[in-house]
Amino acid sequence: MSGQKIIAVGADHAGFDLKQALCGFLEQQGYEVKDLGTHSTESTDYPDYAGQVARAVAAGEAERGLLVCGTGIGMAMAANRFAGVRAANCFDTYACAMARAHNDANVLTLAARMLAQPYAEEILRVFLDTAFEGGRHQRRVDKMDSVTGG
Ligand code: RB5
Repeated sequence: MSGQKIIAVGADHAGFDLKQALCGFLEQQGYEVKDLGTHSTESTDYPDYAGQVARAVAAGEAERGLLVCGTGIGMAMAANRFAGVRAANCFDTYACAMARAHNDANVLTLAARMLAQPYAEEILRVFLDTAFEGGRHQRRVDKMDSVTGG
């Protein structure tokens, strides 16, 4: 995915610092960042930000989403409740490449308490640069919606 694409970004208090750094990284790479908060390290609730980013992606207001919390787990759980959102919590670049190539993940969630910033940037770069392979994987992705009715 090349520049000028809109990425919706959100974090809770645990993810705030890494989110700030990744917003800068995205802008350097030429992406337009829609920063939906949080805007400080004051304690907040991750579902609030997961919901905002998931809605932006589901509505087509952003091409992709990025969510950061302590572990990435709560963000992924919350974002995946929204129809059309496929959020993947990735701890390494291989998992992230597969999440894009096979699962067409449109939201990446990251663990601020478990990932160093440079490696988080590498994972994010893979998320942005890896194409969905389609084919048999499209059928499987379609089934995610059909089996749940969503
Ligand atoms: C906040 O302490 C922490 O629970 C949250 O950032 C996240 O890791 C939840 O999944």
